[in-house]
Order: sequence, then C-alpha cells, then structure tokens
Amino acid sequence: MAMATCDIMDFRNPQPALCRKESDCRAPSQAWFTGSYSLQRLSISTKRALICKQWQRLKLVAEANKAENGRAIVDTSLNPRVAALRPSKTMVIADYATALVESGIPVIRLAAGEPDFDTPKPIVEAGTKAIQNGFTRYTPNAGTLELRKAICHKLQEENGLAYSTDEILVSNGAKQSILQAVLAVCSPGDEVIIPAPFWVSYPEMARLADATPKIVQTALLDDFLLTPEKLESVLTERSRLIILCTPSNPTGSVYPRETLQKLAKIVAKHPRLLVLSDEIYEHIMYKPASHTSFASLPGMRERTLTVNGFSKAFAMTGWRLGYLAAPKHFVTACGRIQSQSTSGASSISQKAGVAALGLGYAGGEEVALMVKAFKERRDFLVERLQALDGVKLSVPQGAFYLFPDFSAYFGLEAEGFGKIHDAESLCKYFLEKARVALVPGDAFGNSSCIRISYAASLDSLRTAMDSLEKALSLLQPSAVPLR
Ligand SMILES: Cc1ncc(COP(=O)(O)O)c(C=O)c1O
Repeated sequence: MAMATCDIMDFRNPQPALCRKESDCRAPSQAWFTGSYSLQRLSISTKRALICKQWQRLKLVAEANKAENGRAIVDTSLNPRVAALRPSKTMVIADYATALVESGIPVIRLAAGEPDFDTPKPIVEAGTKAIQNGFTRYTPNAGTLELRKAICHKLQEENGLAYSTDEILVSNGAKQSILQAVLAVCSPGDEVIIPAPFWVSYPEMARLADATPKIVQTALLDDFLLTPEKLESVLTERSRLIILCTPSNPTGSVYPRETLQKLAKIVAKHPRLLVLSDEIYEHIMYKPASHTSFASLPGMRERTLTVNGFSKAFAMTGWRLGYLAAPKHFVTACGRIQSQSTSGASSISQKAGVAALGLGYAGGEEVALMVKAFKERRDFLVERLQALDGVKLSVPQGAFYLFPDFSAYFGLEAEGFGKIHDAESLCKYFLEKARVALVPGDAFGNSSCIRISYAASLDSLRTAMDSLEKALSLLQPSAVPLR
C-alpha cells in the first residue's frame, strides 16, 4: 500500500481517543489528506486503514509537542552525519576579525580564500547581457551545451584531455562538484586518502558520504607533496578515493609531472582506487612550475574525476560556477545528485563562464595580469618571511597562499596576552596585537603552520608584515615550560 505518498492529515478537528485496531478507529471520516493520489480510487477499508495510521502518527506527534509548563518539547537531534561535521576554523578567525572591524578596529585580512580583484570586464559584460537578453531561465541540469562545449575545448587545448559534452557536469561552484563526486563514488566504510595539509572541506565531505577520511601527513621538506612511498604505505583494500589538489590550498605547492607519474603507477595497481584531482588554482602558477592534469597520465583518464572552476583564476567566487570532467558513468551519477538538489547552475553565470573561457589560453591577458600581481606579492612575502628567525617555509609555486611553519614561537609568551600554545593562539595573538587576520594550520590538518593569503595589495602586505614582525619581537621565553 502506497502509504508514503499520503502524508498530511488535518487534525484541527476534535481528536478521538487513540485506537488500538483499525476497526476501532474513530478518526474523523472527513480527515483531509494531501497526497499524490486521490482517495477516491481506494476501497473503503484501505481509506480507513490510511486514515487510522496517519491519525495515530499525528496524535503521537501532537502529544510530544504538547506544551509542558508553557514550553514545547522539541526533538533537536540531528542526522549523525551532520552532527559529525566540524565547523570550519577559517570561519572562527574570520568571525573574530569581523567582530573587531565592526567595533571600529582596523584589521588587515589575509585569511580570505578569494582573489581581491574584480571579475574581468568581458566576463561581467557577458553576465549583464545574459540578464538583459532574458537568458534567465533554468538551463539543463548538466549545464548549457554552449558552456560544456567550451569546457571540452579548454580541456583539450590546455590539458590534453579529450572529453565529450556528456562527460562534463557544470555545478554551482567547484565545491559542489567535489561533494557530488565524493558522494557518488564512496560507500560507507570506504577510505578517502587526503594528504595534509588539505583544503578544509575534503575530510568533511568524506564524512558526509559515511566514508572515512584517511589523513596522510606530508612534510615541509617535501614541499608538502604526497610522496609515492607514503601513498603506498597507506593503501588498503578499503581505499576508494585519493584527493589531490594542485596547486594546493593551503600550501601553494604544485605537483611536478614526475611525482604525479610515480603516484599514477601506484594507483594503477589498485583497481578500486579513484583519484579526485582538484585543479581549481591551475592558472595561478609561477614559472618554472607547470600544471599537469592527473587524468592526462597513462591509464588515469578512466579513474580520475577532474574538478575545476571559475572562482579563483577568473575572480568569480560569487558567480558560483565549477565543473566536473570524468567518464560518463561518474558524471551521470553526480548529475543525478545535482538534479535532486540544486539543478543546473545559474544561467547568467554560465554565459559569463563561456566569456571567461573565451579570454584565451589560460585566461589570456586578463588572467595573466592578476597572476603577475600575485607573483610580486608572493616574492615580497617570501623574502620577508625567510628573513624571520625560526620561520620555515616551502616556497609556493602557485595559488595565492603561503604556509609558513611558526612552531619555533610556540611556548613563548607576550605581556598582556599570555602563552602562545599553538598556531591557533598565535593567530589570536596576531589578530589582537598586529591586527592581522591569518588562519591557523590546524584547519588544514597541520598544527605547526599558519596560512597567509596574499589576496591583498602590496601596501597591505607591507603593513601586515611590519606589524607581524613587531608582534613576534615582543614574544619572550616563558617562565613556565610548554606542556
Ligand atoms: C582547493 C579548493 N577547491 C575548491 C574550492 C571551491 O571553489 P568554488 O568557489 O568554485 O566552490 C576552493 C575554494 O576555496 C578551494 O580552495
């Protein structure tokens, strides 16, 4: 019997006593159902049974909600998967910085994960034109054919990857593409290999899929790259997915082609193993580093899910546009999730995305200008950080982050602040004393480092570094040893 389709009954009528048997049911015969089928087509006894069951359920709910001393009893339990999610530490510091700014204290914010540039003009114009031309309706779930064709062309030209349009799924940002990919391929109990430092959302996405994030620590001396030996040592028959991010958020590290080739050889030995390659910072890269798409390596196309997007390279964070390129069965599965959650991405953003890809190879002159500015800032910060006593740094080759190790300062203390225990307390100290907002490395799975985003002007970076240097100089060895 199709009980599930018959959901709501109006119980504003007088409530009868709870009946034990269907035949005793005294639910009002005029009980009002909203369901996807008509009660007319059901036999009297089936109607009676439906009404009885619904009535009993609603009676129990009504009793549970009955006011007790004027307060309703509410079941506030959550889905265990949601309860297991950890709040993002990037948000904690950002909120603290916002509170300071709102109380009139200026803060230099170097915590943001988005470019400080405006979206290039040709892209904005394409979006505006889309609105003016009435291109404002739903698009196909997978994205417009125009955009998917442009993405296929980009992947072929820039990454040496041949995909057809039905192997592309456009989503509301790369974040959605990654989540859907993880949900689509991971089953409960599967392991998701995540090299640390990692982008904050990867482990939580694995948890949402009921999979187990398996964090693999990398070393600053290895430029925070996953080594073939480390990968080999953590693989088991439960390993389902490896998430690689190149260039990396938070470290700016870029995987050299030779390292990826070695990783690919190991992956090839494990038939269940897939790779999610997050390439969203692909265009923000400093020579001599160069980008290799994991899927372009021999034998890897069939087991790689490549995610890319428009947020970072094209300064389009608010347009919410990203995509997945993968073999058709994976794309179809991700598309099914999307069709039952958000449906297609914004029609306006998709027109803008076509314009972005039309700017030329790797974003053309518009993106090259932003990358040039990022490189100047990186060079400036690297020089200043390398001059600081005790700070260890792997020079980033891409993205717009640095991830220096400040652990030499843990255990020191400052007058009026107390002891610096870890990266989190050092970030709080920097915020309070230097008025600079940074993100503690724990958010990314490394508690010795701090992420500095250089999506800010050189002038701001100069002021920030002067203040940080001064704040560090005030730290003294503690009288009480660090526990
Ligand atoms: C590594 C990485 N992947 C994916 C994303 C998500 O990008 P989007 O804004 O397109 O959802 C981000 C954003 O911070 C990121 O840093």
